[in-house]
Amino acid sequence: MAEATLFDTFARAPLRFERGEGVWLVTEGGERYLDFGAGVAVNSLGHAHPHLVEALKAQAEKVWHTSNLYEVPGQETLSRRLTENSFADKAFFTNSGAEALECAIKTARRYQYVKGHPERFHIVTFEGAFHGRTLATIAAGGQAKYLEGFGPKVEGFDQVPFGDLDALNAVVGEKTAAILIEPIQGEGGIRPVPKEFLQALRKICDDNGILLVFDEVQCGVARTGKLFAYEWSGVAPDIMALAKGIGGGFPLGACLATAEAASGMTAGTHGTTYGGNPLAMAVGNAVMDVVLAEGFLAHVRDVSLVFRQGLAGLKDRFPEIIEEIRGEGLLLGMKAKVPAGDLVGAMRGERLLGVPAGDNVVRLLPPLTVTAEEAREGLARIEKAAEKLSASLMKKSA
Ligand SMILES: Cc1ncc(COP(=O)(O)O)c(C=O)c1O
Repeated sequence: MAEATLFDTFARAPLRFERGEGVWLVTEGGERYLDFGAGVAVNSLGHAHPHLVEALKAQAEKVWHTSNLYEVPGQETLSRRLTENSFADKAFFTNSGAEALECAIKTARRYQYVKGHPERFHIVTFEGAFHGRTLATIAAGGQAKYLEGFGPKVEGFDQVPFGDLDALNAVVGEKTAAILIEPIQGEGGIRPVPKEFLQALRKICDDNGILLVFDEVQCGVARTGKLFAYEWSGVAPDIMALAKGIGGGFPLGACLATAEAASGMTAGTHGTTYGGNPLAMAVGNAVMDVVLAEGFLAHVRDVSLVFRQGLAGLKDRFPEIIEEIRGEGLLLGMKAKVPAGDLVGAMRGERLLGVPAGDNVVRLLPPLTVTAEEAREGLARIEKAAEKLSASLMKKSA
């Protein structure tokens, strides 16, 4: 039963999890669910990963919080590791994805401002995008259902259709500060942006003094089988937002930027109380220990292959249920023929968790530590769910 003392903002499934172990979540009643939602791509290393638990416990016994009035050694370590392994030179830590995007948007606008172009504050985004639920990020996402009733849309966000270069060229102008894009749209329905399109964006940005901003909140930190999704395209941004997987379940986000792009973010221009707090840094560094270890990314790619091949087989067997398999690494989507919610419900009936997304897609985002055997178990459960849905479709049409 929904609790009346909570805001009614979430339509929650009637499931109460008490603990987790790797790819499994266990309810209060002791039922075990295979978690292929991973807290919407958050539990990158599964539940209760021993290295993360140990790092958090060890830090909890030392110091929890000092504020950003003082130096935080964990921030220095984590920013060094993130920048050494990406296009970036600098990092700002946040508590969430939306805050990482807010920082990215502010960084882009400040860059233009200090270059003598205060009029350049517009950010171009793409239909189907999702960048968070703050006032600026709902304006960036541009989705009517998230904007309705919250007053005037924050000024300075221009949206164009997904993949439409002509529309983009028509909108980019004197006022444009940056182009913001998810290399693979997550909430929008696991829609990968073609490499050629990202290359074209890079060129438009370079030719016009515009910054390229990637939102890798969902697709970053090894989720696609590379540390960052942009690596598949060879196109590097100037600014990038991270969150979700980088904290493995602890609230943590980051805004990364080149030194040039971050040049406007001088002392006092931006801040946060909790962002980069020692507990978050301990967990973030522990996540990096694992994802940077030899063989980890290869593991993600190997399991992805097994899982993806199995999903392709299910699509062939149940064309009335599954229309298309898409995505990269362990950021996969099944575009459904039946309502995506029905497929998620049927999977839940088999004790397998997935996450609905836009474009009638069911997201499959298992922890990156998932084994091939666990992936096969997931496939077996999707198969059973599809069989049941298929049988009920036949009954209806009979
Ligand atoms: C691509 C992307 N950007 C931003 C966000 C917002 O992150 P948060 O919910 O942590 O604010 C999300 C969350 O789903 C996301 O998928």
